[in-house]
Amino acid sequence: MAEKSIANAINQNRLWERHMELAKIGATIKGGVNREAFTNEEIKARKLLAKWTQSRGFSCSVDPIGNLFFRREGKNPDASPVVTGSHIDSQPTGGKFDGAYGVLAGLEVLESAEDIGLETDRPIEFVAWTNEEGGRFQPATMGSGVYVGAMDFTKMLEVKDTNGIKVSDVLPETLNAIPEAKKRDFGSPMSAYIEAHIEQGPILEKQDKTIGVVTGIQGCRWFAIDVFGSEAHAGSTPFALRKDAFRAAHSMINNMYEIFKDDEDILRFTVGRFEVSPNSPNTIPGKIFFTVDFRHPDSSVLTKLGDQIEEICQKNCNGLDFEVKETYTVPPTIFDPTVVGTIRSSANGQNFSVMDITSGALHDAKYMNDICPSGMIFIPCEGGLSHNELEAAQSSDIAAGARVLAETMISLANK
Ligand code: HGY
Ligand code: MN
Ligand code: MN
Repeated sequence: MAEKSIANAINQNRLWERHMELAKIGATIKGGVNREAFTNEEIKARKLLAKWTQSRGFSCSVDPIGNLFFRREGKNPDASPVVTGSHIDSQPTGGKFDGAYGVLAGLEVLESAEDIGLETDRPIEFVAWTNEEGGRFQPATMGSGVYVGAMDFTKMLEVKDTNGIKVSDVLPETLNAIPEAKKRDFGSPMSAYIEAHIEQGPILEKQDKTIGVVTGIQGCRWFAIDVFGSEAHAGSTPFALRKDAFRAAHSMINNMYEIFKDDEDILRFTVGRFEVSPNSPNTIPGKIFFTVDFRHPDSSVLTKLGDQIEEICQKNCNGLDFEVKETYTVPPTIFDPTVVGTIRSSANGQNFSVMDITSGALHDAKYMNDICPSGMIFIPCEGGLSHNELEAAQSSDIAAGARVLAETMISLANK
């Protein structure tokens, strides 16, 4: 009997059911998930992964910031593993597939290899990275950034959420989610890393392609801006005497929108968080906090425009004090040609419709690419919608991406 191939061993129904099961944790009434980093929901999701893996005999390890690894042994236990994975934390109004897909596709690869008794030279692993989203605690991709040494662990422990809770306050509960997990060091070597993810944009669906061979990720710069005015009575304070933080912040942002735009619609500029204090209708705002998320594939544009943020604030501050902090700086990523080529030939070999694509969204693969040959596999999501509770993907596409991931991992695990 012909040896069952790993790609054919992928169980589409099991993979879909696991998505629906995981999506029950943090489920929102609109059909999405709210499973932010270090919350009870994310801890429940970690425990569910442990339950599914223990029953298959896969071992589990956790590093000091909570990155969670599951491992299937190979013939050579000392060989560095081929790793896949993504994240199970979500945006507050996130979807069922962002991050979850990459983790569950990884589980499916290990399970399928187990189902057919496939031996690999190298161990194969999948990982759930801590705090990929960065919605509650900035910056994003915190777990993978610390893992490779691009972010300072002790500094990350001090990061606070909007309620003043520190990462160090909530980390212990996450670390203890799976008591039997072995300890894992930051930066333990990997032979290769491949991440499967929904595209989170409209290109694959528009081009009617099932597999995106991701050649790289655009760069990103995040800024946190505070504008300091003074509170006063909305009815009795003349304009001449006002130190209106909203008015200054509003003209800063207006000016940024005039500068951060291009005709080709390649540049991305977003003000995602805007906080007014004291946020009362009849008190002139004494303080404004807002964030800027700026992205572009060209590092010279990232530098040229990103460096103007401070100057734009100065020009529009209306004499008020302000503070600009750059909270996240990620240069554009080019993935490893061998890994990218292996993904492309697996997708073509399985007769999927394929195209090369650059990622608009950030991913943990960006940091893995700093320490080992890495690549990504995209599948379409409906309407290109993500970071939205209506995010949706097709079961057949989910299985297709997992089949390409499986073949790529096994081929690299036997090199
Ligand atoms: O922001 C991002 O690009 C990622 O989805 N967290
Ligand atoms: Mn993601
Ligand atoms: Mn995301």
